[in-house]
Order: sequence, then structure tokens, then C-alpha cells
Amino acid sequence: MKLFVDTANVDEIRRAADMGVICGVTTNPSLIAKEGRDFAEVIKEIAGIVDGPISAEVIALEADKMVEEAETFIAKMPEYKDNIVIKLPFCEEGLVACRILTEKDIKTNVTLIYSAAQAVLAANAGAAFVSPFVGRLDDVGTDGMALIEEVMDIFEVQGIETEVIAASIRNPIHVTKAARIGCDIATVPFNVIIQMLTHPLTAIGIERFLKDWEGFEKK
Ligand code: E4P
Repeated sequence: MKLFVDTANVDEIRRAADMGVICGVTTNPSLIAKEGRDFAEVIKEIAGIVDGPISAEVIALEADKMVEEAETFIAKMPEYKDNIVIKLPFCEEGLVACRILTEKDIKTNVTLIYSAAQAVLAANAGAAFVSPFVGRLDDVGTDGMALIEEVMDIFEVQGIETEVIAASIRNPIHVTKAARIGCDIATVPFNVIIQMLTHPLTAIGIERFLKDWEGFEKK
């Protein structure tokens, strides 16, 4: 399973990229706002760090405005046009924009997917990626991972090429469960990447090896 990092913080993206564990980035308006920087400037910097799909979300709610926003945005960084993925909110207008952008050869990631039926609609509209939200479903007492499983099953049976991004990931168990199900991608917050690489026995093991080596060197 491919991993994307779900952040707009360039230091976190650089650290995740340096480890070689991620091949894409997802952002959303909340994550961009947290950085307090110009939207296009941040996305351009991210695209300079990671050579893979970088999701940038539109703010408009009407299809023609979403398309205009997407094209204006991509025109600001023509050198990265093949890596920029336009993230669209799931709604009727979002689907129209998805169809138009797909016809223009611009990749889209349809986000805020909370049912398999929504995922099917987004795939039919031409989405390159769909993002079902696991954590936010868990938060309201619904099994988010069951949605990933259902979407993966449907896409497999139907031979749908749209890639599924397990989004709203909250912990390492979400990541490994998504991988086990066969999900294409999980987009993971940086703190979850750190949780994934941390194990107390690994830390103790490193400490013990070094201590034993010190003792051997002193002999
Ligand atoms: C997906 O691309 C979204 O940016 C993200 O996964 C939302 O996660 P949250 O529910 O932790 O805000």
C-alpha cells in the first residue's frame, strides 16, 4: 500500500520524504490555514519536495468556479502540473467539476466520501482518487474501515481504476487494517507516521546493543 502524508507542513513533509516512506501528499483548507501561508506558495514548495500526487483542494462550491479555481491554480506552477491533483468536495457540483477537469486531463481527488454509493458516483465522474474518511466515521459510531472494505470490493468486482485513499487516519491500526484490506493508498498525518515507527522494544534493543558494544570495546 502506498502512503501519502496528510499535512501542509513542509518540515513534516521533508522528514517523511527523507525517510522514503511517502510518495504523495494530501492537504485540505484546514491544514493549509494551520500553516498561515499563501496557498499556492505552500503547494509549490511541497511539489518541489515530493515527486508524486499533491492534492490541493478548491474552495468554490459551484462547478464552473471550481474548474476556474483549479486551472488558475495549476497555471501558477506549470512545472508541477502533472503532479497537482485537484481535490473536490463530494457534492453534485463537485461531480460536475470532476467530469469537466477529467475531460481536460486534470486529475481529481473527490473527498469527504462517507458511503460506497458516493465513491461509485465519483469514480463514474472520472475521479483519479476517492477519499473515504475513516476516523470521522468512527467518531460518529460507524465503522470507517468497513467503508474502505466495501469500496475496495466494489472497485475490484467492477474493475474500476480509481484509486482509493483511506483518509482521516487517526492511528497505526487504521493504516495496517487498510493495508490488509488491499486499499491502494492511506494518507497519514505525520504524528501517525511517528507512531508507526516507534516501538519501545526497538528503542530498548538499540540501547542494549550499544551498551554491549561499549563493554566489548573497553576490554
Ligand atoms: C483527506 O485528504 C483529509 O485531508 C484528511 O484525511 C482529513 O482528516 P481529519 O478527519 O483528521 O481532519
